[in-house]
Amino acid sequence: MANMASVSSHNDPTRRSTDKLIDSFICGDARKVLTTFPDECVDAIVTSPPYFRQRDYSSGDQIGNERTPRGYIEQLLIVVEQCRRVLKPSGTLWLNLGDKYHKSSLLGLPWRVAAAMQDAGWLLRSDIIWHKPNAMPSAVKNRPTTDHEYVFLFAKSTDYFYDADAVRVPHVTFTEKSRMRGGRNHFGKRNGTPEQGKNRGNPNLHDARWDQAFHAKGRNRRTVWEIPLSKFPEAHFAVFPERLVELCLLAGCPPGGVVLDPFMGSGTTALVARRLGRRFIGVDCSIAYCKMAKRRLDNGPSGN
Ligand SMILES: C[S@@+](CC[C@H](N)C(=O)[O-])C[C@H]1O[C@@H](n2cnc3c(N)ncnc32)[C@H](O)[C@@H]1O
Repeated sequence: MANMASVSSHNDPTRRSTDKLIDSFICGDARKVLTTFPDECVDAIVTSPPYFRQRDYSSGDQIGNERTPRGYIEQLLIVVEQCRRVLKPSGTLWLNLGDKYHKSSLLGLPWRVAAAMQDAGWLLRSDIIWHKPNAMPSAVKNRPTTDHEYVFLFAKSTDYFYDADAVRVPHVTFTEKSRMRGGRNHFGKRNGTPEQGKNRGNPNLHDARWDQAFHAKGRNRRTVWEIPLSKFPEAHFAVFPERLVELCLLAGCPPGGVVLDPFMGSGTTALVARRLGRRFIGVDCSIAYCKMAKRRLDNGPSGN
């Protein structure tokens, strides 16, 4: 049976060693809670902060209700700065953010946050588009309906953990049924090899670039991820689809590693971490959500 997760308050003095933090939910303001963590204690961070002026989480400590985008970004950066301190040098931060319209103009908030993080020293490694095929329809008639959000992949250094093999996707060009013309030509004949195909003699055939294109485990994952929105009925806010967290963890957190979510909400990051053999630390300023996350985790995997 899976271990029961614990919930502690921000003021709990026993919480400061990494061992005490692991597999627990800590209820408090992430801006303060993270300051009590040791340096470089987590392998990855996967999180979706409250969006700007989107929702009231019924907590005096909540981020998101600042008057201006600049004020909002400043508050997020306080958390992100602590994230940088507690993340191992090989660690990655996966940040999901949606945008917002103000006075008919798109604010570009995800990119404003990303730029501010670059200024603070983070390497922005990827701007992943999370495409939501079941996004809510909208009544707008003078622009396209938005059906995506960003997941930014940040690293502290170029030497970061990334398991490309764990998240590869099937090759599209080289199946018999392929609709993309020319795929077969790469092999020359049925069951042929690239060395027999139209690129024979190409010096790239045996170097890294070509190997990547023909990797036996599939091609490298692309930056558009199509993942339907999912619901957790108890939560009154958008929860992560488990598949989204799964991809971040498989690629960005080594097996047995520790993932932090400083805005844990209903605990999706913890749930997926446990299912994939990773450990977690969850923080949320709402006691109700901390308890909800614990209940959800103690009930076991949902298989979403
Ligand atoms: C978008 S929800 C996260 C949802 C989560 N990814 C899930 O799958 O359920 C944002 C969460 O941030 C929490 N939050 C807001 N301000 C916070 C703060 N200052 N410190 C910690 N948590 C905060 C809210 O209570 C809410 O649960």
